[in-house]
Amino acid sequence: MTVKSGREASIAAVRDVIEASLQRLLPAASELQAPLAEAMAYSVLSGGKRLRPLVVYAAWQATGGAESEDLWRTCAAAEYLHAFSLVHDDLPCMDDDDLRRGLPTCHKKFGEGIAVLAGDALAVHAFEVLSATAYPALVKEFAQAIGARGMIGGQVADLAAEGKPVGRESVAEIHRLKTAALFRACARAGGILSGADGSQVRALSTYGEELGLAFQIKDDLLDLEGSTERLGKTAGADLRHAKATYPAATSVAQAHRDCEAHAARARASLSGLGDTSLLSELVDLCAHREA
Ligand code: IPE
Ligand code: IPE
Ligand code: MG
Ligand code: MG
Ligand code: MG
Repeated sequence: MTVKSGREASIAAVRDVIEASLQRLLPAASELQAPLAEAMAYSVLSGGKRLRPLVVYAAWQATGGAESEDLWRTCAAAEYLHAFSLVHDDLPCMDDDDLRRGLPTCHKKFGEGIAVLAGDALAVHAFEVLSATAYPALVKEFAQAIGARGMIGGQVADLAAEGKPVGRESVAEIHRLKTAALFRACARAGGILSGADGSQVRALSTYGEELGLAFQIKDDLLDLEGSTERLGKTAGADLRHAKATYPAATSVAQAHRDCEAHAARARASLSGLGDTSLLSELVDLCAHREA
């Protein structure tokens, strides 16, 4: 599978190949228990911005990679991990949300048991897909990003902070773990796939982390400033559940300023890389989006 004009590929063209890869690399439904296959496909193939695989692609492109099946496998794995995190994040024992991507959440549609298991299966499947690439370093990269010292640790801290007054530093640390760790791994994965050198991978690490921090502050702002219809998830849910969000820990104005500051740092990290047009476009998509 290829994107038509390699270096000038538009985000829409890359997204099309990502969509096809997500579908193609899911386990065959005939191999699975029916509700599991349905719940996995529902959670992966029902929309979403596909930002994490786009970060993999853009980082790979900026460091001069040659197109390969391993690139698309890594893009798909990143999105499977994200989908796993969303399915579990929405559960009644976590954020208790009924709406995701404009549709009933996985547990609303399939029940809690199947949602827990579909999330588990997506996470495990992501590593099966990664293990089929020629880059074993990717397995460690994503395992660290989503594990106890990364996203899952951040989700634990997020739950622990619910209903408590928390300061800016604590929320920033929660954001770094629950969200930025995966963005960082996606950016680094793009570099690993293209054989980037140490300094390029370090630049991509900074890019991914700053992008993820801008992204999550914007997510917290959209909960306050967006509409349910536009977001495809229930606006105001953070307030109702007394979640520890960035605007709650600071102010709406400060959150906007810090979102821009992280976006600026993400852009600044790109100076030593090659064609960074897609990476720059993704900064805008994350920091200035409306959904
Ligand atoms: C939502 O992520 C979860 C967070 C980490 C805030 P996205 O806003 O990227 O969700 P989709 O994939 O586009 O639905
Ligand atoms: C989700 O953060 C972070 C992860 C899924 C790891 P949120 O709880 O803010 O995401 P949304 O707002 O439900 O999409
Ligand atoms: Mg949450
Ligand atoms: Mg949530
Ligand atoms: Mg949110």
